[in-house]
Amino acid sequence: MAMFKVSRVETTPFEGQKPGTSGLRKKVKVFKQPKYLENFVQSTFNALGAEKVRGATLVVSGDGRYFSKDAIQIIIKMSAANGVRRVWVGLNGLMSTPAVSGVIRDRVAADGSKANGAFILTASHNPGGPTEDFGIKYNMENGGPAPEGITNKIYEITTTIKEYLIAEDLPDVDISAVGVTSFTGPEGQFDVDVFDSTTDYVKLMKSIFDFQCIQKLLSSPNFTFCYDALHGVAGVYAKRIFVDELGAKESSLLNCVPKEDFGGGHPDPNLTYAKELVARMGLSKTHPESNPPEFGAAADGDADRNMVLGKRFFVTPSDSVAIIAANAVAAIPYFSGGLKGVARSMPTSAALDVVAKHLNLKFFEVPTGWKFFGNLMDAGMCSVCGEESFGTGSDHIREKDGIWAVLAWLNILAHKNKDLSGKLVTVEDIVRQHWATYGRHYYTRYDYENVDASGAKELMAHLVKLQSSLDEVNKIVAGIRNDVSKVVHGDEFEYKDPVDGSISSHQGIRYLFEDGSRLVFRLSGTGSEGATIRLYIEQYEKDASKIGRESADALAPLVEVALKLSKMQEFTGRSAPTVIT
Ligand code: G1P
Ligand code: ZN
Repeated sequence: MAMFKVSRVETTPFEGQKPGTSGLRKKVKVFKQPKYLENFVQSTFNALGAEKVRGATLVVSGDGRYFSKDAIQIIIKMSAANGVRRVWVGLNGLMSTPAVSGVIRDRVAADGSKANGAFILTASHNPGGPTEDFGIKYNMENGGPAPEGITNKIYEITTTIKEYLIAEDLPDVDISAVGVTSFTGPEGQFDVDVFDSTTDYVKLMKSIFDFQCIQKLLSSPNFTFCYDALHGVAGVYAKRIFVDELGAKESSLLNCVPKEDFGGGHPDPNLTYAKELVARMGLSKTHPESNPPEFGAAADGDADRNMVLGKRFFVTPSDSVAIIAANAVAAIPYFSGGLKGVARSMPTSAALDVVAKHLNLKFFEVPTGWKFFGNLMDAGMCSVCGEESFGTGSDHIREKDGIWAVLAWLNILAHKNKDLSGKLVTVEDIVRQHWATYGRHYYTRYDYENVDASGAKELMAHLVKLQSSLDEVNKIVAGIRNDVSKVVHGDEFEYKDPVDGSISSHQGIRYLFEDGSRLVFRLSGTGSEGATIRLYIEQYEKDASKIGRESADALAPLVEVALKLSKMQEFTGRSAPTVIT
């Protein structure tokens, strides 16, 4: 067994190592600065405390983006030096964010021990490559992202850090082959266990969904299917699950080979960036497709996001979580005993609220970011949750789960099409039926990416100031359009966690209208450069004769009000958003 020594390396703090909505994300060139990653990793170890780190089992893997392989070797050497007992690495360093969460919760080492946490190397849906983004985040023992208490502590430590520990003489571990490599250090044995995480993930999915029923649907000639991994890590799991287990054709997989730069694309599953899928599903105006598949879906880089499409039909993520919640008990075996509760992030549309009310379910509205759902799930208060940002999931893990969401839809479709001899019940049928029952929430999000940070701040301050007089706001609104209802409430969203009582303030500026419409403005917490303003626009329509409109037409009056009320162009210099979802 190779021996290693521990070196203490002097260092000085780097500015700006504050984890955002989901970990620390920066340009690769920032992460590549000597000691940059090391400082953050050591600060994390210090924040957790030596007693938690010594003897621990840690997962270290990610979405395979550029710089991941170097980062994994650095973290292995630092784990060894900090007294970690073993590190689990996905084959080729690949593991989706949801798979990591599942591995932390369920995988057991030969000696019976389980993982204590994970470093996940991803910048999620941000592009990858030498000039693009890298990211790192720490997940806790419950499989969920570190809570703010820990991330704040990590940040504090990064501002004063003086040294880090590393086993410089530990040879690089071959992560391209499954197997355990053992070393001996001052504190005893240290193992690096490289394994194929798809096996664990398939097992988890099989314990939730009715694979037999889905397989029948996928093998029916009536049903055609397409999945786009956008060259992210989802491709590895998609091949195993959709093709090997469920019998989909190999040709139904698009971009399912993970690439360090995601093929030069933006691995974000939405109508703008998932271009190939959007065209294949018949939703591209410039590339009309004569015979699109019945079902299409895409994932982001680390496979926690999902976009679900029907033939020439887009399902909004806000509708998706509501529809899954409404059908879960009947269609998905894991939920057959009932739902403990449901939750959504604040800017997500209120479609889920209506389902919760109808089904008499516990309901929670939390700030943006998945970590807020974890506490509710740990306390047994929530089964299904979602965000408008293409995130959907359940309490099987503590992250959103892109493939889970696709399987949930397939299971619902399979359930509704048990009798395959009749006419196929399509994705669009399910959504329209849902609107007819619960009403429709027209919804859109405008993103203004990489705008000048001071302009963005001024815009937000302007919106807060306006809220001091609703009379004034309503005068302005009436001057812009006479066909929108009155603003009846304005605030900055604040959340008190019902489990631990912690308070999160300044979570987005809200304007609530008399007819249930909403405008929400937030600054993104995941960008790596400048500021990103997100504007969320929503309108509820109960009248069945009005639920079939084009979303953009239905929302046009509110959009105009939002842009003029916020003086968007004045503050940002932008006449149009970067992305509309
Ligand atoms: C964005 C999304 C948010 C999601 C997060 C991580 O955060 O809006 O819903 O949880 O990415 O995937 P934001 O950039 O808005 O802070
Ligand atoms: Zn992601």
